[in-house]
Amino acid sequence: MKYYFAPLEGITGYIYRNAHASCFPGMDRYYSPFLVPHQNRDFDTREKNDILPEHNQGYTLIPQILTNRSEDFLRLSAALARYGYREINLNLGCPSGTVVTRGKGSGFLTNPDALDRFLSEVCSGFEHLHLKLSVKTRIGWESAEEWPRLLEIFNAYPLSELIIHPRLRADFYKNIPHMETYEYACSHTPLPLCFNGDLKTPENIRDLEQWFPQTKAVMIGRGLLETPDLVCRMRGAAPAGMAQLENFHGQLLDGYCASISGERNVLFKMKEFWAYFGKNFPRKEKELKKIRKAQKLTVYREITASLFADV
Ligand SMILES: Cc1cc2nc3c(=O)[nH]c(=O)nc-3n(C[C@H](O)[C@H](O)[C@H](O)COP(=O)(O)O)c2cc1C
Repeated sequence: MKYYFAPLEGITGYIYRNAHASCFPGMDRYYSPFLVPHQNRDFDTREKNDILPEHNQGYTLIPQILTNRSEDFLRLSAALARYGYREINLNLGCPSGTVVTRGKGSGFLTNPDALDRFLSEVCSGFEHLHLKLSVKTRIGWESAEEWPRLLEIFNAYPLSELIIHPRLRADFYKNIPHMETYEYACSHTPLPLCFNGDLKTPENIRDLEQWFPQTKAVMIGRGLLETPDLVCRMRGAAPAGMAQLENFHGQLLDGYCASISGERNVLFKMKEFWAYFGKNFPRKEKELKKIRKAQKLTVYREITASLFADV
């Protein structure tokens, strides 16, 4: 089984990936939060920093693109190939309103004919570019009945991997994953399958492996944000101790301080991190609240230092 870190826009940028890979090595892959096409340049500054090879040393990064225009997908992919990337991932899952109203992300799933044309154009372009295409998808817009048709389309192309998040757009991140549609995929596709969704514990992952042995890889997002050593545990390591968690937090904070200007922006990032990482401190609600309210880095540092010291 392979283990992938899911793309999480605003969270798993290169600073996070570097801290994670250094403290909890062993992930098979990280996926970049989605990149979007721009009019006059390939990448904006933030995106360029995120995919620069020198910012992504020591682990495998798969860049992800969000668009419904094949010419834009091919142009960005060619730019990524010039940086040395060999596989590109297509985002067919994003549920955000501004994205889906433009027919992108999970919005693209409402137009299967256009999706079919897009994949056909991208796959023939990729043959010339010697690139592999993988897809990360939801199972439909508002009904699981859409899934067989969508799967039939994916099956027609030589995708290197089909990553399935078995939720509808209508589910956003709520409700439980539609496991029957994942089961359907397992018996109706020759494509290598990756499962994504709600894997939080080693038991969750082992159950998935046992029930769906066709699964080649699992992609984990929020489970790793909450339990950054989850994959190390899958590989037999003992649960991370407080010193390891503190070291991870310290590397992340140093990374953000060195790359983001303005205390408020650094604090914003760290508060978002604690929204998940705070799970490791179940009896510390008062301190976690202080973190959420912190307006100064000096105050933030004091609160977190005492939190790590006092468990
Ligand atoms: C804050 C946030 C940002 C996300 N950004 C992306 C993204 O850039 N690309 C993408 O394909 N999925 C994105 N996702 C979806 C996750 O990659 C993943 O599919 C989802 O969280 C379900 O997996 P999990 O239960 O393991 O977290 C995002 C999800 C969240 C909560």
